[in-house]
Amino acid sequence: MTAPTGIRFIGIFMGIPSDGKFTLKDLPGTGKRVDVLCRSLAACFDWAPETIQSDILEFVAVLSPDRMLIVKKPPDCAYKGETWWAEVVKSSLTGAPPDFVEDKVISLDQYLQEILNEDRLYLYVLEEVGIPLSSISVTTKDSQYSFMLGNHLGFDEPTHEIIQNLEIQPISLGQLSYLGSHCVASVISHFERMVK
Ligand SMILES: C[S@@+](CC[C@H](N)C(=O)[O-])C[C@H]1O[C@@H](n2cnc3c(N)ncnc32)[C@H](O)[C@@H]1O
Repeated sequence: MTAPTGIRFIGIFMGIPSDGKFTLKDLPGTGKRVDVLCRSLAACFDWAPETIQSDILEFVAVLSPDRMLIVKKPPDCAYKGETWWAEVVKSSLTGAPPDFVEDKVISLDQYLQEILNEDRLYLYVLEEVGIPLSSISVTTKDSQYSFMLGNHLGFDEPTHEIIQNLEIQPISLGQLSYLGSHCVASVISHFERMVK
């Protein structure tokens, strides 16, 4: 089985203070659940990948209707954890992003239209009800896989509308509701199992 050339997560985290004004000592409260984003980032780049080349991973954090942080693999983030990621998010939101983070001004709708123009791009939304993750297999060389996921409350109404208008295929890990970080790790491990 061929390996994908890209795996991207698009996390919708609209409530997080986009001016970066939160304290590292109280991420759930002052950060309005920025901890959920940080755990997903840690899963994506830090602890979940085992055999996959982590430079094919990307995490897009949608933080307001027209702003997102596009995060790639940091040079070395092994076992840095949630607070380290919170510092990365904070400095990115206060005008000093590290070189593995791009602060992009674009709406979610425009961004999705942009990536849908990429060659061999498969876009899915992670939801409790959908076709099973196990049904995804990489059959085309140079294919890119993108998965949208919600925050602790799921998706907000405008995002639901975008998902419906673009008819994005729902993919499920089962009927139980899992933490976003668990979903990120499951998707990575699914692709790893496929190429073993
Ligand atoms: C903590 S869950 C949100 C749960 C929330 N109770 C809801 O109603 O959506 C965060 C995100 O993880 C993803 N997720 C959680 N469980 C899932 C499952 N069983 N299959 C696929 N995706 C799931 C979804 O994208 C969800 O929006």
